[in-house]
Amino acid sequence: MTTYSNCIVEYADTKDKFDLCMQVRITVFVNEQKYPLHTETDDEYNDKSFNWVATCDKTEDDGTTSRIPVGTIRLIPVSDSVGKLGRLAVLREARGLALGKRLVQFLLKESAERGMKEIVLNAQYDKQGFYEKAGFVVEKGDEETFLEDGTPHIRMWNRDINGFLADVASK
Ligand SMILES: CC(C)(COP(=O)(O)OP(=O)(O)OC[C@H]1O[C@@H](n2cnc3c(N)ncnc32)[C@H](O)[C@@H]1OP(=O)(O)O)[C@@H](O)C(=O)NCCC(=O)NCCS
Repeated sequence: MTTYSNCIVEYADTKDKFDLCMQVRITVFVNEQKYPLHTETDDEYNDKSFNWVATCDKTEDDGTTSRIPVGTIRLIPVSDSVGKLGRLAVLREARGLALGKRLVQFLLKESAERGMKEIVLNAQYDKQGFYEKAGFVVEKGDEETFLEDGTPHIRMWNRDINGFLADVASK
């Protein structure tokens, strides 16, 4: 059985690390979810966002191990106190290992360290349950879904990321 170990999340502060984020985004959003390539490569926020990459040691059945990028997430500053979470992706083969949850918590922590108080996101509608577990809610008035690149999305907020992180730390 293929296993993933020694997983870490890092701020993508170099071109090489950003390229690993793009590698995951293209695998998940373009190859798997069939969004057009330009929605990733020509994204205007690629140069105006903070990005993080998760990497793991992947060990194959035959015992060979390689270090690979498995997940990514990004933050777009909206104002001094509000950020927008986006482009969260975990390779299909590495899902269910709590990496998505870990990437969201990492983003919340690093957003709080940058002085942000609130995070908004547009969730693919079928990911609403994931984001609820990660501390986000659909607010009154935001119950309507809308299309983004042809896919139904719903807006979700975490209005108190410091409180949420304190709750997580106390558990
Ligand atoms: C959404 C995604 C990032 C989740 O990543 P993951 O690493 O598999 O998720 P985790 O293992 O961290 O799951 C955390 C919790 O959310 C739950 N969960 C995961 N996906 C879910 C979903 N689609 N709906 C409801 N709950 C979900 C898990 O069961 C787990 O619950 P638990 O803590 O009670 O055990 C991953 O499925 C993915 O990359 N999907 C394709 C890209 C995508 O759709 N990105 C989001 C765009 S808005």
